Amino acid sequence: MIHKILITGASGLVGSRLTEMLLEKGHLVSHLGRQKKTGNIPSFVWDVENKSVDLQAFEGVDTIIHLAGADIADQRWTAQRKKEILESRTHSTKLLFDTLKDHPHTVKTLVGASAIGYYGFGLDEEVFTEESKAGIGFLAEVTRQWEEQVDRIDKLGIRLVKVRIGIVLSEKGGALAEMAKPIRFGVGAPLGSGKQFLSWIHIDDLCAMFIQAVEDQSWHGAYNAVGINWVTNAELTKAIAHVLKKPLWLPPIPDFIMKLILGEMAGMVLNGSKVSSAKIQKAGFQFKYTDLKEALKNLLVR
Ligand SMILES: NC(=O)c1ccc[n+]([C@@H]2O[C@H](COP(=O)([O-])OP(=O)(O)OC[C@H]3O[C@@H](n4cnc5c(N)ncnc54)[C@H](OP(=O)(O)O)[C@@H]3O)[C@@H](O)[C@H]2O)c1
Repeated sequence: MIHKILITGASGLVGSRLTEMLLEKGHLVSHLGRQKKTGNIPSFVWDVENKSVDLQAFEGVDTIIHLAGADIADQRWTAQRKKEILESRTHSTKLLFDTLKDHPHTVKTLVGASAIGYYGFGLDEEVFTEESKAGIGFLAEVTRQWEEQVDRIDKLGIRLVKVRIGIVLSEKGGALAEMAKPIRFGVGAPLGSGKQFLSWIHIDDLCAMFIQAVEDQSWHGAYNAVGINWVTNAELTKAIAHVLKKPLWLPPIPDFIMKLILGEMAGMVLNGSKVSSAKIQKAGFQFKYTDLKEALKNLLVR
């Protein structure tokens, strides 16, 4: 079945690749963002702060994929930036809710991005499942409030899927691009203890998961979007260096340096979590990339 899908925040890392993969499968895609874009994909505008949205964006749409949110890692976490990180997610979701509540529409499914940051950071032995409670800390609180808004959409009789995204591996941006940069210059090093766990997923597997969430009507509720195994920061650093054929000779960068550079944001890279993919596997999802080095080769070696 061909779906007509409206994607919010589609100009970002995930939305760009997801759009390509949805089009390859024959789905109809349009975008809702802060600016009108030129090109082949129908583009509509919203202004989250002023609570306005072009209602034409929803015409004939059966599925919304909601990805919009201010980047959590591109600026220091000042009070103003933290507010923007939170409200770009909660207010945009509320705007979608109010629009769908107050206007006739044809939307049957909403697939919302969330994050494994929901669980906070874990102790060594702890493995988070979709049943685990929300954790503590800024990102856990942002994600909890974001999901609280998304959950209201269920009450409108719309099938709701929440994709709790792990560390997305992509050559175009995000954690991998940042980690690979110094390694390419021969000055890479693990961060902090290097023992923090990273629950990673290849961007194509993540987008395939979003597509299955759209197509498979039995999916409902929260799903962790992480691969079948996690690695430590030191293991990931080593694997990137191996794939890029670069030396790793520097000692790990101590916590205090990371804190000096990043401020409160340092917690995000100095801590980690083990997150389970059991539910997504049980739901019939088949990963293309289960081996870290294969995933890295696919992304980094051209
Ligand atoms: N990439 C990851 O590793 C990862 C991990 C966990 C969760 N996630 C979540 O998944 C979603 C998509 O991730 P991504 O990596 O594609 O993010 P991204 O590259 O930062 O893109 C997010 C998009 O959201 C829109 N946006 C940015 N600031 C906004 C604001 N203040 N108000 C409204 N919209 C705003 C922008 O689209 P327009 O310019 O078109 O409006 C932007 O392209 C995000 O919500 C992110 O938190 C990502």
